[in-house]
Order: sequence, then structure tokens, then C-alpha cells
Amino acid sequence: MRILTGLQPSGKLHIGNYFGAVQPAVELQDQGDAFYFLADYHAMTSMTDAVTLRANVQDLAIDFLACGLDPEKATIFRQSDIPEVNELAWILSTVCPMGLLERCTSYKDKVAKGISANHALFAYPALMAADILLYDANIVPVGKDQKQHVEVTRDLAQKINDKFGEGTLTVPEVQIRENTAVVPGIDGQKMSKSYGNTIPLSGGKKAIRKTIMRIVTDSTAVEDPKATEGSNIIALYKLFADEAALNQMIAEHEAGGFGYGHFKQTLFDAYWEHFSAIREKREELENNLDYVNGVIAKGAERARAESTKVLDRVRKAVGLR
Ligand code: TYM
Repeated sequence: MRILTGLQPSGKLHIGNYFGAVQPAVELQDQGDAFYFLADYHAMTSMTDAVTLRANVQDLAIDFLACGLDPEKATIFRQSDIPEVNELAWILSTVCPMGLLERCTSYKDKVAKGISANHALFAYPALMAADILLYDANIVPVGKDQKQHVEVTRDLAQKINDKFGEGTLTVPEVQIRENTAVVPGIDGQKMSKSYGNTIPLSGGKKAIRKTIMRIVTDSTAVEDPKATEGSNIIALYKLFADEAALNQMIAEHEAGGFGYGHFKQTLFDAYWEHFSAIREKREELENNLDYVNGVIAKGAERARAESTKVLDRVRKAVGLR
């Protein structure tokens, strides 16, 4: 069973990425043949600065390893080290109806936010389909916002198989964890780099505490009971707390007498504790960049062995050399 997922090096990794994709990826690397990659071609749809892109790639590679992705178990690589992905994206584009891309909500959201649409942004799902299909992936663990893209991938794989023969491409399954499908940001919308509402995984204590203190709440007075339904703080605290701690926070909301600042501090403490080992590992890796770069180089070799095999199969099936 092959498991595959990718993350864009488009900014600091946040806890939505962590709980939605990285933590599942860490667990799944023990259950199959895992391929995890840094989606730098995709990041180019929102970034134009070469120096920042390169730095982000390195930073995300450090995050991957600090969070527990293990190069002994998983193939960890950079998308752009495998140029075959562009050729497969082209082949997929030839069976991809415009309407399928026009219906993608992630594209529509970005355009609605005023991001000027270019061809890469529009064709983003076709490249993502190529990422997945190039490695015969069976399972794709992602957050809910990527579900539609995996559905497009399945659709395109099926179209290729219908036209050029069953078995040309492997049709993948999406895997989304219910509890962490949509991690909310500090404003209650989905946590997202492009909404500026993220809690990053790494950063200084003071800055992160300040971010957590900015979580949006209602204006219930300190002495009054507070709503637990729809509470951003509770939704985030659930990610870190065991049952007893969560019940205590809920009871304190219901009792009244505790201000939101108190709950935010509890959340911050839980956050800080939860990521302490990852922070330490991160620091170690920051001082060992040769190792990090070595992992990526080796990952590229392993990924390439697979990608050339699959692309060769597809090329033959569709009538290319
Ligand atoms: P990206 O970089 O936006 O996000 C990386 C992963 O984090 C998940 N995620 C979330 N999960 C829960 N709650 C949130 N608030 C939240 N925000 C982000 C995303 O669902 C994703 O799993 N297109 C992809 C990258 C990609 C890819 C692929 C993924 C490129 N090719 C092939 C899988 C397979 C993206 O933009 O992820």
C-alpha cells in the first residue's frame, strides 16, 4: 500500500497543517510505503520570490523531520526534483475538462479573494493529480480542503484508464480524519496561510502566546457562564487536551467566573507543552542542514526510480515514445 501526501512550502507550517496532514503522515509511515513531498511547484502559484521559496523549502524539510517523518521509513522529497511530474500533468490535462477545474472551490476562493488568476493557479489540480498518480499512490491523507482535488485526481485517473486501458493509472483514495478535517484559525474560519489566521508550529514563545491571546471570542463578562458550542478556544484545545482536561475547560466555561484570558493561557500552555519535543528537534536540525539536504537528495533518487517507471507505462499507453 502506497501512502502519499504533499505540503506547500508557502510559509510557516501551522497547526492546521500539522493535525490535518503531518501527524496522520507520521502515523501512516508505519503502515505502508510512504511518499511525502515538499510541493514547491505548487507554492509558486502564491510566491514569486526565489530566495524565500528556497528558504521555505528548507524550513519545511526541517519541519517534516522534526515532526517525526522518518527517512528510514518514508521517501521524503522535493516535488521539483522530479521533472516527470510536469509531463504527467500535461498528459492528464488532455483528458481534463475545463468545467472540472472551474468547479474547484479552492481556485474560486482564491479568485474571490482578489488573487489574479493565472494558468498555473487554474491548472493546480491537474499538477496535484500528477503528484499522486505518478507514484501509484493508494491512500492520500489530507485535510478536508484538499478533498475535492483528490476527487479530481480520481476522475482523471479513471478517464485515462477508460481511454487507454485499465491499470494505466492507480485510482487513489482520500483519507481525512474527522476530528482534524478542518482546524479553525484564530478568527474561527479554517486556519489558512492565506487568511492570516494561523498559529504556527514554530516561533518564539512571546509571539505565539500573543497570537493565541488574539483568538476571537464573544464579549461575555468574566463572571457569566460562557457558550461552549462554537467556541474557538475549545475547538483548538481539543487538539491538545486529554478528556479530563477538556472536561475541566468545559466545566469552567459553564460555571462562569473565568475570563477568556484564562482559557487562552490554558490553551497556550497545552500548545507549548505539546510541541516541546518538536521544537528541540527542530533546533538540532537547524544546525545540521547537511543532514537535512542529504535526506532530500536521497528521497529524490528513490522517488525518481518510481516516477520514471510509472511515466514510462503511461507514455506507452497513450502512444508516446
Ligand atoms: P497545503 O500546503 O495548503 O496544506 C498541507 C496540508 O494541510 C492540510 N490543512 C489543513 N488541515 C486541517 N485544517 C486546516 N485548517 C488545514 N489547513 C491545511 C491540507 O488539507 C493539506 O493536507 N494542494 C496541497 C499540496 C499538495 C498535495 C499534493 C497534497 C500538492 N500536491 C498531492 C496531497 C497530494 C496544499 O495546498 O496543501
